[in-house]
Amino acid sequence: MRGRFITFEGIDGAGKSTHLDWFADALRARGATVLRTREPGGSPLAERLRGLLLTEAMSITTEILLMFAARQDHLDTVVGPALARGDWVLCDRFTDSTFAYQGAGRGAGGEHIAMLERWVQAGLQPDRTYLFDLPPEEAARRRAGARAPDRFEQEDLDFFGRVRAGYALRVQQDPARFVTIDARQDIAAIRAVLQGSIDTLWA
Ligand code: TYD
Repeated sequence: MRGRFITFEGIDGAGKSTHLDWFADALRARGATVLRTREPGGSPLAERLRGLLLTEAMSITTEILLMFAARQDHLDTVVGPALARGDWVLCDRFTDSTFAYQGAGRGAGGEHIAMLERWVQAGLQPDRTYLFDLPPEEAARRRAGARAPDRFEQEDLDFFGRVRAGYALRVQQDPARFVTIDARQDIAAIRAVLQGSIDTLWA
């Protein structure tokens, strides 16, 4: 059976990385070959671009173009080859993050991002996206004291409110791709949702 391309999304502090680790193990337990990766980053060049994106001040246009430059390299050198081999690719963030953070959060809108999405992805879309949804106030409480915030994590509640709304719009545009998870639930409840949805990936 061919692998699947699965992405995890949500505002900073929603807890998706913890669940991603568990999800990768659950797939491996079922015999899948799993590649766990992330954006921005995931390849040597894209990780260098990530370093710039998370620390350097830049215009919103530069930010969007660097996100997609990193994405292009990641798709060319890591994700594409893995999917061609039949591996399962689990990616911590993908283009929905660009629509949510740059498009909605920073107010760039979706038009140019949609253009770059068509160009860079050439029709490739995740088979499924898990969206960890959380009110911005709760996410901020969870992030508090975790570690030094990066350039995005320093943004205020209004910014994360817009990011959350940006994600909701993406779900509305392509509801079949998304599983939205209420991230206020405890870890066991969220795992139960993920476990239940794993079976449907084999369908
Ligand atoms: P992430 O890896 O989730 O952060 P962490 O290392 O704290 O788990 O994501 C890094 C940041 O990049 C996050 O704040 C969201 C941001 N981001 C965008 O703004 N646009 C994008 O297209 C992507 C992929 C990430």
